[in-house]
Amino acid sequence: MQKDLVSISEISKDDIELILDTASSFRDVLRRDIKKVPTLRGKTVVNLFFEPSTRTRTSFELAEKRLSTDVFNFSVPTSSVVKGESLLDTVRTIQSYGADYIVIRHSASGVPHFIAQNSAASVINAGDGINEHPTQALLDAFTIREQKKEIKGLEIALVGDIVHSRVARSNILCLLKLGANLRLIGPPTLIPNTLPKGIKVFYDMDEGLNGVDVIMMLRIQMERMGKGFFPSTREYFKLWGINQERLAIACKDAIVMHPGPMNRGIEISSEVADCPQSVILEQVTNGIAVRMAVLYLLGGSKNAE
Ligand code: CP
Repeated sequence: MQKDLVSISEISKDDIELILDTASSFRDVLRRDIKKVPTLRGKTVVNLFFEPSTRTRTSFELAEKRLSTDVFNFSVPTSSVVKGESLLDTVRTIQSYGADYIVIRHSASGVPHFIAQNSAASVINAGDGINEHPTQALLDAFTIREQKKEIKGLEIALVGDIVHSRVARSNILCLLKLGANLRLIGPPTLIPNTLPKGIKVFYDMDEGLNGVDVIMMLRIQMERMGKGFFPSTREYFKLWGINQERLAIACKDAIVMHPGPMNRGIEISSEVADCPQSVILEQVTNGIAVRMAVLYLLGGSKNAE
């Protein structure tokens, strides 16, 4: 594989399948009593999160520890970033410690690309602005494959705030490469104007859910939007939220996904979030194995030598 993972658009279907197959092996390791392997002993990973995160940050850290790397969590609020140090100087400083990997989340789209071009380390995008969140898409694909055996030909609906969602963007790229049939459901204000060929758009939730195998709910990204995208959260839930009645419109064995964090009562009812068809916690668990696979396959800074 290449040095970095910054975008699903830059990896092939074969690479995606290799990551998912490798993640399956690591999933078996994680089921053992001793969940640690020496695979990346001696490698150093720096986790550089400029935006809040629960799932991505903790699962990267666990994945790194399970692979026996040395982990360094860079704390932005207590660093010289708050004194105005530039991103490039921060990265160069980290690089001077011999980091083999940099895992980065940033509110500005394109930052992981910029760092990848300016660092010998393997750079992994842990979410950049409204651009991409590649490891989330990979763990989602892994979860769908685990539940449904094959992704090709499945009817998959992404629901809600597509326009501001890096998760949606990476998932669209990933799931199309894997041969899924995609539908986007949401208010016209939250669906992008230009989309890859073959994607169906529904503004009516009941119509869009008819016959779907996978329902991927998305978080309303309040922090990335001004007012006026929809009248109120109550109205939003009424029109585009998922509840038990709506879930019954999809295929009987449909699964419900959400990348988290969830806004319960806005995108998803608690009944659905916690129902047997929900695989939301499986997504979280699978995040560790998938991130182990990505770290293992990228191999760290030796690739750049
Ligand atoms: N899915 C996701 O990126 O969650 P966090 O923001 O908690 O990492």
